[in-house]
Amino acid sequence: MNTRSRVRTGALAVALALLAAACTSGGVAGGVRGKPGAAGLRDPYFPKLGNGGYDVTHYALTLSYDPADGRLDGRAEITAKATQDLSAFNLDLAGLTVRRATVDGDTAAVNRAGNELTLRPRAEIADGHEFRAVITYDGEPQTITDADGSEEGWLKTADGALALGEPTGSMAWFPGNHHPSDKASYDITVTVPAGLKALSNGVLTAEKKEKDGRVTATWHTPEPMASYLAMLAIGKYDTSTATVFGKVPVLTAADPRIATETAALRARIPEILDWEKENFGPYPFSAAGAIVEPDDDVGYALETQTRPVFPLGSFDTGTVVHELAHQWYGDSVSPASWKDMWLNESFATYAEWLYEEDFEHTPAQRSFEKAFANQGAWAFPPAEPPTPQDLFGTPVYQRGAMVLHRIRQTVGDEKFFEILAGWPEKYRHSTADTEDFTRYVESVAGRDLSGLWDVWLYGDGKPEKITD
Ligand code: TRP
Ligand code: ZN
Repeated sequence: MNTRSRVRTGALAVALALLAAACTSGGVAGGVRGKPGAAGLRDPYFPKLGNGGYDVTHYALTLSYDPADGRLDGRAEITAKATQDLSAFNLDLAGLTVRRATVDGDTAAVNRAGNELTLRPRAEIADGHEFRAVITYDGEPQTITDADGSEEGWLKTADGALALGEPTGSMAWFPGNHHPSDKASYDITVTVPAGLKALSNGVLTAEKKEKDGRVTATWHTPEPMASYLAMLAIGKYDTSTATVFGKVPVLTAADPRIATETAALRARIPEILDWEKENFGPYPFSAAGAIVEPDDDVGYALETQTRPVFPLGSFDTGTVVHELAHQWYGDSVSPASWKDMWLNESFATYAEWLYEEDFEHTPAQRSFEKAFANQGAWAFPPAEPPTPQDLFGTPVYQRGAMVLHRIRQTVGDEKFFEILAGWPEKYRHSTADTEDFTRYVESVAGRDLSGLWDVWLYGDGKPEKITD
């Protein structure tokens, strides 16, 4: 909830005005005007996720982890811009112990309630001011179990840990504005015991050996990233490198026990990305790759930015096509809220259909008919999952892809492929919602498509005919 400006009257107002006038250390000029930033962004599924009153531009995370005791030591340096006069602001953080917080170098008062961390800086932050918050913290990061039973956040593995954050798990390993609408660049520095590797998103910019034998890796993500796409993979890994598009480094990694059996498909990532670029337009990031884990480590694949993570059992061509397609749809163009999740999964699923059409003699029309016949796809409209546990439901994927195929049937291939590449071009490195999408498609189609949206995107149940 957004807190309304307090109305101060009488003696209190006079006292506050005098206090403000006496205060020389950078408060809001002219008196106490600031109010606390909202504790949540009112996401329809996770109302407390994210926080109001500021926009993060950069996260610099300095972490160390020891799998032997499961403890994480962290320092998060958050550069943000105030979007209102702020007397206090919140960050999302689950578990862990906050040791100290500063804002622009001065100690800030810290309060914790549930997953909300409140920092009250010594001086108020003026609207438009860029500030730097530094939070030091430690503890054993927790695994978060979602409404649908899947596990995210911090996942311990046989030789290390995996940090995965869709939709809410990133608050288990660093404090932040954990809603996809507030994207930022990242520098992630991780120190781990000798013999282990620490992998993350983006480009490896530094690697060094500490005096005590531990190793430190620094990863740089210059493009905006939603926090749910930030990732850490700590453990023993075999890695391979390649280049795609003549310039983008590709780094793949796999647990040594499965390195050989995953090598061939890992080596195909450049060619799959080349095919996706032909269909989806320029690749949006300056790094690429994949991380493959034993099945015990994680139960699903995730499109973590630049470097998706796969369990061995899902490391197949279709899922690789899917997670790499998310780099355009979901990662570069992120959902404005979790209600817009279908915009991620519809395109990633359709990418699989297209790949099968091009390489596996299965026209997308046949995939469409198969999806239409799947009763599970009709449980709810893709743009309106009834509860958080439906965010990953079959309709989001299959019926979402059917919406795209209906667009293709309606506007024809030429305009459809213009939409496939034009959508991620228009909202590159940004966020978009369902109405942005329908408006965009209608602008390319040159006509109103409300009949299509009413039936396929928003309608309850299955249409009578596949052509409705
Ligand atoms: N978003 C992932 C994908 O489709 C899948 C995923 C992530 C998932 N977390 C999940 C699926 C939890 C089911 C449950 O690429
Ligand atoms: Zn997906």
